[in-house]
Amino acid sequence: MSDSVLKIDPNITESAEFLRARWKDKQPTTAIICGSGWAKISSGLTIIDEVPYHEIKCLSQTTIDGHISKLLLVKTSNSYALIFLGRRHYYEGVGWDPIAKPVLLCNEVGCKNLILTNAAGGISDSFDVGDLMIIEDHINFMGHNPLIGKNQLSTAPRFPDQTEIYCHKLQALAKKIGEEKTITLKTGIYLALSGPAFETPAEIRAYQTQGASAVGMSTVPEAMIANAIGLKTLGISCISNMAAGISKQPLSHEEVAENTTGTLPQMKILISKLLDSIT
Ligand code: HPA
Repeated sequence: MSDSVLKIDPNITESAEFLRARWKDKQPTTAIICGSGWAKISSGLTIIDEVPYHEIKCLSQTTIDGHISKLLLVKTSNSYALIFLGRRHYYEGVGWDPIAKPVLLCNEVGCKNLILTNAAGGISDSFDVGDLMIIEDHINFMGHNPLIGKNQLSTAPRFPDQTEIYCHKLQALAKKIGEEKTITLKTGIYLALSGPAFETPAEIRAYQTQGASAVGMSTVPEAMIANAIGLKTLGISCISNMAAGISKQPLSHEEVAENTTGTLPQMKILISKLLDSIT
């Protein structure tokens, strides 16, 4: 039987030791994994350190246009946070390990909270391009489960409960910040597919009847791994396009990246307030 992503990995331990030695008493409490269009949120934050992924043994270069491969340490009002600029995806064909490593590394360096961001195709009638959606729950349609295989981590249960995979308290906090800062936040269910092809209009109609509000190709494996190892998770999608068939335009990765730009000011305020408020 092969191991699942939940294994004892000397590269993760070594990478965490490397970062702890570099950052000393600057202990991060929250980490953000940036999806398409989200990397620019870091420009408004106080960056203390930048480490290219190739200097961190357990991390690997991203292969997607627009994804940088750098880890940032930023200062928040009462703590520190990690920002992963660039993520790996299942459609890259390299299995689950590269997707799991940033999540496992966050845990190993002592983070307690994980914010997962992405660009997603809107399905819900009430969504428009540029909307931000707090992920209330997800549907895993990736065709596989990242937790399959031998689980070597005694701290992670064999059968993780997924009733509250996205932390209700963090969702409430995001909504409160949205109200205070007049940032409209939609809520919904994120349905994840393996990609890399965008969906057909018939598939989107099928997912709509199954309760999906938005579709994408990431986030779900990281949320499942984070949940299994006990990290509190918040998921935020930027609706970069309306999904196939709802939008009459052909879809492209360029459009996905470009359409998040208009929402950048709101993304930046939301993220910086979240980092200052999460303890
Ligand atoms: N489908 C799948 N993934 C996506 C989409 C989409 O329409 N937009 C951004 N990521």
